[in-house]
Amino acid sequence: MFDVSKIRQDFPMLLDESGRERELVYFDNSATSFKPREVIEAEMAYYTRFSANIHRGDYALSYEADQAYDSARQTLARFINADEREIVFTSGTTQGLNMAAYGLKSMLKEGDVILSTLAEHASNILPWFRLAEQTGAKVEFIPLDEQGRLTVENFKKALHERVRIVAVAQVTNVLGYLADIKTICALAHQAGAIVVVDGAQSVPHRKVDVRALDCDLLAFSGHKMCGPTGIGVLYGKYELLEKMEPMMLGGGANKRFNSHGDLILSRVPDRFEAGTVPIGQAVGLAKAAEYLQRIGFDAIEKQEQMLQKHLAEKLKAMDNIEFYNPESDSAICSFNVKGIFAQDAASYLSSRNIAVRSGNHCAKMLVEFLGTDATIRASMYFYNTLEEADRFAQALQGCTLENCIDIFL
Ligand SMILES: Cc1ncc(COP(=O)(O)O)c(C=O)c1O
Repeated sequence: MFDVSKIRQDFPMLLDESGRERELVYFDNSATSFKPREVIEAEMAYYTRFSANIHRGDYALSYEADQAYDSARQTLARFINADEREIVFTSGTTQGLNMAAYGLKSMLKEGDVILSTLAEHASNILPWFRLAEQTGAKVEFIPLDEQGRLTVENFKKALHERVRIVAVAQVTNVLGYLADIKTICALAHQAGAIVVVDGAQSVPHRKVDVRALDCDLLAFSGHKMCGPTGIGVLYGKYELLEKMEPMMLGGGANKRFNSHGDLILSRVPDRFEAGTVPIGQAVGLAKAAEYLQRIGFDAIEKQEQMLQKHLAEKLKAMDNIEFYNPESDSAICSFNVKGIFAQDAASYLSSRNIAVRSGNHCAKMLVEFLGTDATIRASMYFYNTLEEADRFAQALQGCTLENCIDIFL
C-alpha cells in the first residue's frame, strides 16, 4: 500500500534533526531528486566496507568491489529490461547523449538528416548540432503541435528517406509531455533511422522497457531517480554499441595496444567505460532502482498524476497565472505570475520555503515556441503531497509585485 507519509520518512532531506518534517516544499524534482536513506547507505558502504578499484586487483576486497559494480549493472539491466552488456555507466544523461552522438559519427554522411524537436534540453540538441557540423549532415525539427507536443502525426510528416537519426525526449523537461516512442521507433526503423531517446525525465517516473519500445539508444541520470549524482546509464542495443566509436579511450577500454598504436578495444560495454568508473555511485544507483521498483511505478505514476491534476486545477483557477501546460502528462507545471519576472517570483516562493526552478530550464529553443524567456517550473515527485501543492498555491496567491519587492528590501 502506497503511504506517502511513510515514504517521506525514507528521505533525510525531508526531515529535520529530530526526525520531524522540515518546513520545506521541494518542487524542483526535475532538476534533481532527493535520495532515500538506503541509497545513501549503499553508496557509503562502498567507501566504508569495500573501497577498492574494480577489474584490476587480485585481492579479496577488489573482488568484492567487482561484484558490487557488476551486480549494479545487472540491476540496471533488469530495471529497463535490457541485457547487462547493453548497459554503459556514464556520468549522467548529458554524457550518455554526447557518447551517442560521438559514437554514431561514422554512420552519418553529408546530406543525412538528424530529426529532433524545439522542446529538447541542451544535452539532446547541442551534441547533434556538432555532429551535423562535423559530418555535413543537417538537423531538422519536427513541428510541435499547438500545445508543444511531439505527435506521431507530425513525426510522420517530418520523416523522410534522408533521416538517419531521430533524437527526442520521451518526456520533455519544461512541458512534461510524453512522446509515443514505441510508434516513433517503429516508423523510424521502417525509414532506416536510429532512435536515440533522452530518458532523463521519463525513466525516474514511469516503467521504461527498452525492448517494448524498441529504441536503439536511451540515456538517463541517476540523480533524478533517487540515485547519486555523477552516475547515469546509456542503454544501447548490443549490435549497435558494437559498431559505435567510444568517446574516451584509456584503462579498462582496451584489451591490448602497442608502441605502433595498434589497439584492440575491450568488449562492449567495457570499451565505453575508460578510466576508473564511479563505483560507489553505481552501487547507489542500483539501490535507487530497487527502491523505485519496490514502491512500484503504478503507484508512483498514480501519485504524480494526482498531484499534477490537483495543482493544475488550482493554477487554472488563478487569474494572476499564465499556465503553459495544464494538460501535462507529468507532475510538471510550467507557468508565470503575470507581470512578475519568473526569477523574482521564484525568489518570493523561496522566502516562503518553497523551492522551484525559474528560467529556460536548458530548453532554450522552446523559448521560440512559448514566446517567453523564462517560466517557473514546479516539478513534483512521488514523495510530494497534496498539502504541499495547497501550500504552494496559497503562496502563489501572495506573489504580488509589492510582496516580491518587499523580499529584496
Ligand atoms: C530532458 C533532459 N535531458 C537531459 C538532461 C541533462 O541531465 P544531466 O544534467 O543529469 O546530465 C536533463 C536535466 O535536467 C533533462 O531534463
